[in-house]
Amino acid sequence: MARSRQPSSTLRPGGKVVEQHWDPKRYQRNAGFVAALGEPLLELLTPRAGERILDLGCGDGTLTQVIAARADVTGVDASPEQVTAARARGLDAAVVDGTRLAFAAVFDAVFSNAALHWMRDPDAVIAGVWRALKPGGRFVAECGGAGNVESVLRALAAALARHGGDAEAASPWYFPEPAEYRARLERQGFVVASMALIPRPTRLPGALADWLDTFAESFLATVPPQTRSMVKAEVEDKLRGTWLDAAGIWTVDYVRLRFVAAKPSEARA
Ligand code: BEZ
Repeated sequence: MARSRQPSSTLRPGGKVVEQHWDPKRYQRNAGFVAALGEPLLELLTPRAGERILDLGCGDGTLTQVIAARADVTGVDASPEQVTAARARGLDAAVVDGTRLAFAAVFDAVFSNAALHWMRDPDAVIAGVWRALKPGGRFVAECGGAGNVESVLRALAAALARHGGDAEAASPWYFPEPAEYRARLERQGFVVASMALIPRPTRLPGALADWLDTFAESFLATVPPQTRSMVKAEVEDKLRGTWLDAAGIWTVDYVRLRFVAAKPSEARA
């Protein structure tokens, strides 16, 4: 599969769009590391008392809650189940499509961890973040970057192809090159303070098959339900020599794109 490309629709047999669904309990079990590894991004955000912050793609609110201890934070996420979980923590959270943000110059900062790569229209996201920020506001984010989970994608694409599936058409992920994302931000008017592509091999809490169940639903949906276990087993077989250690711990080749960008003080909405 291409390392970096325009996000595509999630098209499936019969022209159906298969969306990723989030089960907060399964997410906590198989992906609790996502929020834990997002803590360094909070250091870049440095939320301050009195600030209003938008957490874009807040998930179950794990990091939103950390921000809430220091500033006034609103979380938004496209998943109703995740928003329910965030609200159960007492957070201000709403179901909002990240490509349709409708806030107007109300936030001092927009924060986003491990969410932008699920949003298939990056320019719409960036335009919404721009509108949501006050002049002088900052956009601090991390998402999957070019090369992210590439070995898994290759193995998954090959396994799906053997069973009549199509990973390319199914991909809901967008993993941009730094130069590409920088150009998008600058076209909107942002001043990019930092932008880095960071390889971060990431240990999984369970089997690679569980990771696929949690994150790769759109891909697996391209083959019949009775075939999915076989596809997952084939992916594990292909990768165990590289990514499974002697203690039975799986690692995945995560690559992060991390950036800080500012909406200039003199900017108009
Ligand atoms: C990530 O956070 O990098 C990621 C999320 C979903 C699928 C693959 C990677």
